[in-house]
Amino acid sequence: MPASIIDGQAVAAAMREQYRLRSAALFEQTGTTPGLAVIMAGDDPASRIYVSKKIQACASVGIASRKFLFPADVTQAELIRQIEDLSADPGIHGILVQLPLPKHLDIKAVLGAIDRDKDVDGFHLYNVGGLVIGETVFPPCTPYGVMHLLDHVGVEIAGRNAVVVGASNIVGKPMALMLMQREATVSVCHARTRDLAQFTILADILIVAAGCPNLIVGPMVKSGAVVIDVGINRLPGGKLVGDCDFDSVAKRASLISPVPGGVGPMTVTMLLVNTIAAAERAAARRTAAPSLRSADLPAV
Ligand code: GUN
Repeated sequence: MPASIIDGQAVAAAMREQYRLRSAALFEQTGTTPGLAVIMAGDDPASRIYVSKKIQACASVGIASRKFLFPADVTQAELIRQIEDLSADPGIHGILVQLPLPKHLDIKAVLGAIDRDKDVDGFHLYNVGGLVIGETVFPPCTPYGVMHLLDHVGVEIAGRNAVVVGASNIVGKPMALMLMQREATVSVCHARTRDLAQFTILADILIVAAGCPNLIVGPMVKSGAVVIDVGINRLPGGKLVGDCDFDSVAKRASLISPVPGGVGPMTVTMLLVNTIAAAERAAARRTAAPSLRSADLPAV
């Protein structure tokens, strides 16, 4: 029997409605409108599309967004100054720096300048470290979205063999950590893995995030596996495809996420979720602060 399709668009739409209500309730109760700043340096065409999708999605859940575009030759000091200004701005609850950055910029220094309470992408070392010990505040959006999809369709994770293909800081590594946290047995494959198929064939849950069209074909997939395709590749003719040969993989899998319409809409949705959560926490800190200041801290 061919695989059932995991409809990321529908799951994302339901979550956005839920968070639209949550953001409205936050405004009603505290007067806080969640605010997201999106920073982009350079003119990467794919990044431009992602940034405009993120900005558009904000309005649909009541997030006020601001876009900051810098030329490709922006200096590190200039970019960091902007991030520090936004970190200090009480109207901004989330800061996202679109990656990749131009090569001359030090990504660690740039991401490290983001206030960790506003790090809605989860890329600051504080949040990365939290993820390692299962205490992250802001989970990185793409793997967070994948976990939501798996939970939504009722996939059992504990004790299953999960194989992650791709070991990027944005997807593969955090994905593996999240699956480990849920007690899967996790293997991570990457560009230097020899004989990829010997790993993928064992996967009950196969997550593919390699950025390589047709990397995974049907015979590499265990019968009945759950396959999540995180790849987004534009073919020369303009067609958008994932990393799996969809037709042959769908013949073997029990569940499969398509491209487009699978993980993509979830990535943007989880950014909205993290931003609203950041605004809720900021509002809670504001109301907690006076009693802390007056009672719990020594006088100076
Ligand atoms: N570039 C590709 N994916 C992402 C992402 O999730 N966040 C950011 N900031 N940049 C990206």
